[in-house]
Amino acid sequence: MHNIYLASLVFVTTLLMFLMSGSVVYANEADLIYVANCAECHGSEGYGTEEAPSLRNNEALAKFTPETIYYFIMSGATGYKKRFPESQYPSAMPGYEKDLPAEEIKLLATMINKWNP
Ligand code: HEC
Repeated sequence: MHNIYLASLVFVTTLLMFLMSGSVVYANEADLIYVANCAECHGSEGYGTEEAPSLRNNEALAKFTPETIYYFIMSGATGYKKRFPESQYPSAMPGYEKDLPAEEIKLLATMINKWNP
């Protein structure tokens, strides 16, 4: 009987450690996904470049929920660029629906939401 309690205690502790280490990895994971996919246009820290606007302290994004940001990253704004070819940016925001797993886009959306309190 004792052994079962001990075994379940070890199991629960291991599970907790696994979950906690997982969330730490996740925080860095969003950064890695960002640097690999978004930094070339939005800048390594997200403050924007001549290619794309800042994703930090951005008034438009401050009004968005993480869900809205998620759908925006999924679909991009290529239509906008076609309708407004004179846009200050040389290329449009690409949609990532086919290039990134939904989970990774969610991590990005959560991170960008935190960049815009
Ligand atoms: C090829 C350059 C390019 C890349 C790569 C790119 N973006 Fe963009 N992004 C843009 C442009 C340009 C805009 C401005 C909207 C427009 O005019 O199409 C934009 C707008 C945005 C916006 C809305 C900001 C606003 O003020 O409208 C978000 C959020 C965003 N991008 C997130 C991302 C994320 C996350 C990634 C990586 C997965 C990414 N972008 C990769 C070019 C890019």
